[in-house]
Amino acid sequence: MRDTWSFFPSGKIIFGNGAIHKLGELLTSMKAQHIFLITDKGIEQSGMLSLVLSILEKGNFNVKVFDATIPEPPISVVLECYEYAKSQINADVIIGLGGGSSIDLAKVVALLVAHGGRPQDYFGENAIPSPIAPLIAIPTTAGTGSEVTSVAVVTDTDNNIKVGISNNYLRPAVALLDPELTLQLPPYVTACSGIDALAHAIEAYLAKDFKYIQAEGEILFQGSAPISDTLALQAIELISKNLITAVQQGTNLEARSNMLLGSLLAGLAFSNAGTAAAHALAYPIGGIAKSPHGEVTGLLLPYVIDFNARTMEDKIRRLSQALLIPASSHQSSVDATQAVVAHIMDMLQQIGLPTRLSSIGITKEQLPEIAEKALKIDRLIRNNPRTATLNGFIELLEKAY
Ligand SMILES: [Fe+2]
Repeated sequence: MRDTWSFFPSGKIIFGNGAIHKLGELLTSMKAQHIFLITDKGIEQSGMLSLVLSILEKGNFNVKVFDATIPEPPISVVLECYEYAKSQINADVIIGLGGGSSIDLAKVVALLVAHGGRPQDYFGENAIPSPIAPLIAIPTTAGTGSEVTSVAVVTDTDNNIKVGISNNYLRPAVALLDPELTLQLPPYVTACSGIDALAHAIEAYLAKDFKYIQAEGEILFQGSAPISDTLALQAIELISKNLITAVQQGTNLEARSNMLLGSLLAGLAFSNAGTAAAHALAYPIGGIAKSPHGEVTGLLLPYVIDFNARTMEDKIRRLSQALLIPASSHQSSVDATQAVVAHIMDMLQQIGLPTRLSSIGITKEQLPEIAEKALKIDRLIRNNPRTATLNGFIELLEKAY
């Protein structure tokens, strides 16, 4: 049994409409002159890159841009970006501008700038010896929470798998969140990233209590604890109230702002508590289906809640409140679980996302292999409140099929 929990906050957080215009004074306060900015072509085409560059021009900063980020960047792109940074500029500050992939790439480049070597040298947990280079993360999507989390995901193309680098030193020094930068996100991307943020918050909240996590020594994902629970519940409420509006009325700034805040709080929660079965199962499914990560975690979420519900009856009732489900709709804990599951299914349908594995190209024959692979992801599996077994996971996947 573990006696203590700890909570790692992130660096400075700046949040609000127009926050991007604080970038110049922020860099000045960090005594930065040479800036390396990492983004992607979509951000360049949307006009957001030129907005940021015009702000930087006013401060006479020396700026070099890498705009060739691709989703879940392969190691070759990480090395290309790192070599470009080294050849162009002796950066005081690195900026990641974009979705989770640009921010993750910026994290790994900031790691290599500080410590050298190759991304492979740092795979897994706790392989980073000391702080990375100063990093400012500016998200343009509401979902990954990468602007505050301790994780970066890259693709190991030699072995054809996604690999995480997880370490509290990876949390950016500054998260600069401006809801206005998310107004242009198309509905499908808003839906996938938003439901993933909800999955982060719900999995962090329903994670096994920290006392019962079976692991020795310092661990990154510690299970449910008071601060992560509080942040997760607030995130669930914000996302539940605003996701459908953000998808259906993309220019609704209030909904966009609440989604960005919800995803930030979810990021702080899950990067301490961890996620569980929905994320563990999503990794092998994502390898087969090529669906966006959030489409898979969102699809699995109601089935995983149903799978776990009997071990978490009090928390399920509290979850149904956070999802704003009327208390009159359920008298018993079984009713509460059914109401939560039906509510999330309804959300998925309203935001146009699939609710069945068969509709994202998974075949029935693949289910046992998916269950087997997911069970090997110990850092997530040990967090799941109900003990995961091969038969239990296959049954869960058959229900989701
Ligand atoms: Fe996720």
